[in-house]
Amino acid sequence: MIIAIDGPAAAGKGTMARRMAKHFNLAYLDTGLLYRATGKRVLDQGGDAEDVEFATRVAENLTADDLNADGLRTEDVGQAASKVSAIPGVRAALLQFQRDFAATPPGGTNGAVLDGRDIGTVVCPDAPVKLFVTASAEVRAERRLKELLGRGSEAIYARVLEDMKERDARDSSRVTSPLETAADARLLDTSDLDAEQAFAEALEFVNSRT
Ligand code: DC
Repeated sequence: MIIAIDGPAAAGKGTMARRMAKHFNLAYLDTGLLYRATGKRVLDQGGDAEDVEFATRVAENLTADDLNADGLRTEDVGQAASKVSAIPGVRAALLQFQRDFAATPPGGTNGAVLDGRDIGTVVCPDAPVKLFVTASAEVRAERRLKELLGRGSEAIYARVLEDMKERDARDSSRVTSPLETAADARLLDTSDLDAEQAFAEALEFVNSRT
């Protein structure tokens, strides 16, 4: 069983994917972490996230340990991740890892759930279950603000909203594998739903497909 979950930042994909994984005994891969780890390594080495050759080399040399690095969830790393993810060489370097994970999920599980931006369109186009989880930019910015403040980070709503819109624009307009809804994905707008309601709706869809 493969479940593909795509959508913009802070739409609730991660929470939903983790719950799906637990519910169906699936391995979970947060593919955003691959781009975040690449972006962070570029920044840590004093590089520019838009430097095509540098970022591609970093992606090609990424190790499993890099996915466990501290500080992958910061806003700066999120922006760097969004920048490196627009580089075709970076995407190519990270694609096989994601496909291998889906084909042979670790840990004696029944399959895999992957979340990201291009899982249903590029990484696993044959996945039997595809969800596109979204919410208005304002609602997503509120959620991200709460998360940042909860972690003790300093943040203000206007800045978080602005960053969110900038990242949405870059992720949707890039030429290689932009954020878009797969033709056979179920669209789930969580703007007016809490996590519980969103999960219930998603579960109903998954069950109808399996
Ligand atoms: O989901 P996230 O916020 O952790 O992702 C960080 C960035 O990585 C996002 O802005 C775009 C990129 N990304 C991508 O291009 N493709 C994916 N499958 C996952 C993430």
